[in-house]
Amino acid sequence: MQAIVLGSAAGGGVPQWNCRCPVCRLAWAGDPRVRPRTQSGLAVSYGGEAWLLVNASPDIRQQIAATPVLHPRSGSRHSPIQAVLLTNGDIDHVAGLFTLRESQPFDLFATAGILDAIAANRIFDVVNPACVPRREVRLEAPFEPVPGLLATLFPVPGKAPLWLEGEDPVIGEVGEGTVGVMFEADGRRIAYVPGCARVSDDLRQRVDGVDALLFDGTVLEDDDLIRAGVGTKTGWRMGHVPINGAKGAIAALAGCSIGQRVFVHINNTNPILIDDSAERRHVEESGWTVAYDGLMLDFAMSAELAKASPE
Ligand code: MLT
Ligand code: MN
Ligand code: ZN
Repeated sequence: MQAIVLGSAAGGGVPQWNCRCPVCRLAWAGDPRVRPRTQSGLAVSYGGEAWLLVNASPDIRQQIAATPVLHPRSGSRHSPIQAVLLTNGDIDHVAGLFTLRESQPFDLFATAGILDAIAANRIFDVVNPACVPRREVRLEAPFEPVPGLLATLFPVPGKAPLWLEGEDPVIGEVGEGTVGVMFEADGRRIAYVPGCARVSDDLRQRVDGVDALLFDGTVLEDDDLIRAGVGTKTGWRMGHVPINGAKGAIAALAGCSIGQRVFVHINNTNPILIDDSAERRHVEESGWTVAYDGLMLDFAMSAELAKASPE
């Protein structure tokens, strides 16, 4: 099983088009300590022939261009991308669908809750359902989005997409609107949770024992945006649990057995994006990796399975 982080940043990317927060300033200046990053996305495959995109960011065209295994391979029209799976309805996870509209068949998988949001907005019909069937996935029901790869969706605390928020949005609701994905092949497991408002007991139990967890690293502290002077929203208000703090991701997941811990969906205000920062050192000393675009995880068959299978 292979997973490639196509985009390691949150909505806006790094640098964000209109931002001069301390991290974006370094990025605009071309400082090598801050790698530019595109918006949130992952590609997953079993065997490398057919690929699943998890979320379709507004940067998908650039991400495909930067990733040779996703280039067309034969004939006059072709794509190794055979399926797209959505983990929520946020702009940074669905706007890339518009780029994928050139009558190329693929399956679009999501929960009923997410598919309903898309069905209610006619602009998504440019991705013609006759060509791109919308396949409803039930929570907890394993399915095979591309051959050999098993995926299971599970609910995580989240919130409605910004573009569907009402006056007083519920934060931390658990349902079909925000999900994590457990990928499994050859006895290896990768959990992908790019958006999560709170680390629940349920989440801890699910990710215990995985080979890799790619987890929401949007904000370092709950008040990152306020500190950086670029906004008034807390992480909680945006539906993102902080990295630090007693209930933050590092502490809340410390007791779980996890092969590789990787932060993804990192907002441009987050100082862990600066290579030599104290904040980066702190997360690395806590056993976490800060994802970058192009980061690849490649898991061969587990030792137990390999032993059990005939020569
Ligand atoms: C988020 O992850 O909080 C959203 O992507 C924000 C947005 O839609 O801009
Ligand atoms: Mn986002
Ligand atoms: Zn910024």
